[in-house]
Amino acid sequence: MRDLFDLSGKRAIVTGGAGLLGIQHARALLLKNCEVDLWDIDPKALRIAGSTLEAEFLDSSITTTTIDITSEEAVASVVQTYKDDFKSINILINNAALNPKFPNTSSSSNSQFENYSIEIWNQEISVGLTGAMLCSKHVGAYMASLGSGVIVNIASDLSVISPDQRIYKLPGVEELLQFKKPVSYSVIKTGLIGLTRFLSTYWVDNGIRANALSPGGVHDNQDPVFIQSLVSRIPMARMAEADEYIGAIQFLCSDASNYMNGQNLVIDGGRSVW
Ligand SMILES: NC(=O)c1ccc[n+]([C@@H]2O[C@H](COP(=O)([O-])OP(=O)(O)OC[C@H]3O[C@@H](n4cnc5c(N)ncnc54)[C@H](O)[C@@H]3O)[C@@H](O)[C@H]2O)c1
Repeated sequence: MRDLFDLSGKRAIVTGGAGLLGIQHARALLLKNCEVDLWDIDPKALRIAGSTLEAEFLDSSITTTTIDITSEEAVASVVQTYKDDFKSINILINNAALNPKFPNTSSSSNSQFENYSIEIWNQEISVGLTGAMLCSKHVGAYMASLGSGVIVNIASDLSVISPDQRIYKLPGVEELLQFKKPVSYSVIKTGLIGLTRFLSTYWVDNGIRANALSPGGVHDNQDPVFIQSLVSRIPMARMAEADEYIGAIQFLCSDASNYMNGQNLVIDGGRSVW
């Protein structure tokens, strides 16, 4: 029987490809023989991610593109280079985001909703939501013109639950300086589910399907007080490891999920069930 997860002959774009999860999404695809183009705004992180993957996957095709996905001109122009070179795109993973991680002491006082600035709101929305829309528009239209494609939007468990601000509370820190998960994050991640539903029907006659993946919090050497507080709200009593979404990415991007469209796959150790 053929491997339903095989991605030989496919080419994928992973936005935010140089970040903690972006490189894992790329790894997931490379393991199934997909060609990967990492898109990221950070050239240094991109170089490191690219060479790390090249050392791991010696015979694979890995390219890196420095790009600000909030610029429609930039997104359109990179997609045009694919068209000019007669190179297809088969998979788009909208993963880039400004992901304010705990603790973020420098902006703690600004993370309170009461002090939350319109500039930060605009910045965060422009990457997490507008960037995903622009990449979907240009890459999606190209894939639709080729007759098939898959879009995966990386949302979060916060696409289905509210942030529990109590988990960010540090003992001995005055209330106004406590970190709060910003309002933009909930709005962006919930918005991505709307974008997913829209995309799942828009080009359905052109062979495009779209789904969202909603990861729970990933272990990344966070403050032990935060970890303890978070894991007490997760039935599996631990955070995710960064490589624990590899199977889900391979599933969502391959024929293994051929009849799945417009859905939100929540992988959160059961957090949203409690
Ligand atoms: N890490 C977690 O615990 C977690 C949990 C749930 C969901 N997520 C989601 O997973 C995705 C990846 O998260 P992560 O932890 O790897 O974040 P990260 O900050 O490590 O990576 C994000 C990447 O996006 C890039 N980026 C930012 N602005 C950009 C722009 N304008 N154009 C192009 N690239 C840009 C950054 O340079 C960075 O490399 C995000 O959407 C995040 O919300 C993460």
